[in-house]
Amino acid sequence: MLTISKRGAIQPFLAMDVMAKANVMAADGADIVHMEVGQPGAPAPQPVLEAAQKALVDGRIGYTDALGILPLRERIAQHYMERYGVSVSPDQVAVTTGSSAGFNLAFLALFEAGDRIILPSPGYPAYRNILSALGLEVVEVETRAEDRWCLTADAIRAAHLEGSVKGVLIASPSNPSGTIMEAEALQSVIETCEELGIWFISDEIYHGLEYSFEAQTALAISPNVVIINSFSKYYCMTGWRIGWMVLPDKARRSVECLGQSLYISAPMLSQVAAMAAFDATEELEAIKAGYGRNRALLVEALPGIGLGDFMPMDGAFYTYCDVSKLTNDSMDFANRCLTEAKVAITPGADFDITRGHRFVRLSFAGTEVDMAEAIKRLGAWIRWKSSLRS
Ligand SMILES: Cc1ncc(COP(=O)(O)O)c(C=O)c1O
Repeated sequence: MLTISKRGAIQPFLAMDVMAKANVMAADGADIVHMEVGQPGAPAPQPVLEAAQKALVDGRIGYTDALGILPLRERIAQHYMERYGVSVSPDQVAVTTGSSAGFNLAFLALFEAGDRIILPSPGYPAYRNILSALGLEVVEVETRAEDRWCLTADAIRAAHLEGSVKGVLIASPSNPSGTIMEAEALQSVIETCEELGIWFISDEIYHGLEYSFEAQTALAISPNVVIINSFSKYYCMTGWRIGWMVLPDKARRSVECLGQSLYISAPMLSQVAAMAAFDATEELEAIKAGYGRNRALLVEALPGIGLGDFMPMDGAFYTYCDVSKLTNDSMDFANRCLTEAKVAITPGADFDITRGHRFVRLSFAGTEVDMAEAIKRLGAWIRWKSSLRS
């Protein structure tokens, strides 16, 4: 009998499922406000589009070196000096097919099947899914309000005592909460990993999208960490599938060989275009200012509509709201919100298996018009739901 592998039977990515359902409804004529997927509403910046058009006219789009074209790796290395004052050599940079490919490459290069990897929860669901598909053991560590919903050194030590841990992966700013780790908290986590011989992987995909204070790159704390980043979010290039890693020397050749066989190379057109993203700061900052206005709208309006209990929205473009006063089943809540209020939101079960039933995530990456409409619809819908109960 033909069977499907158990390791391939991973959990669905619910935000994508909600988007698929919302798209079916929209194709039937429904007017949906999208707050489910973390995707900038704006297209890639103008210099990126122009560079891509020129590359298409100029000619052949082919494979590149597995680690990416040298000019892009040089430009990424320069970005670390410009933004963080950290010296990075182009040799340390690997260009990847989105940060998603970076996870596969990092997990395969650093870990053996069966190794235990810590993920703070709530967190981005694909980490858990990729790790389990690769036969790694996910150690989910619940974060707490008193730690600003961030992983702590003590929690790492406790998990390591229960069974040797080989890796820790965090995103700061975080998805789904937007919370940024304060510099001292990040430093103590990285120092603890170094002391215990645990790889530290830093997903810095939301860097550039900060509102409260700037996120620090883990590289400023230690040269032994693995950085994963992407052009998808700040640079508005989700569909171009292009990201990068900064690697310690030890991991470089392994990532190169894995990349050769898994992907050959990241798309060349996207590589050429991505170089121009670093010259689009004015345009990108204007887009970020729009997210800032959306965030301010939500911070002001959500308490008035019963959604005022959310984690610190320091960065990224998400609000992770506790909806336990309204429901004990956020999956059902999100489903009804889509079909009844026509607002697509993501249930917390995507991000936190044990506590997610109490939370929903709203993305504010859309337009200000979308935000105002979403607040209006959500407010009316929640008032209507409450009136049915009373
Ligand atoms: C925290 C985090 N990491 C990685 C990704 C994947 O991004 P990419 O488009 O670079 O593959 C996402 C996408 O939403 C994300 O939220």
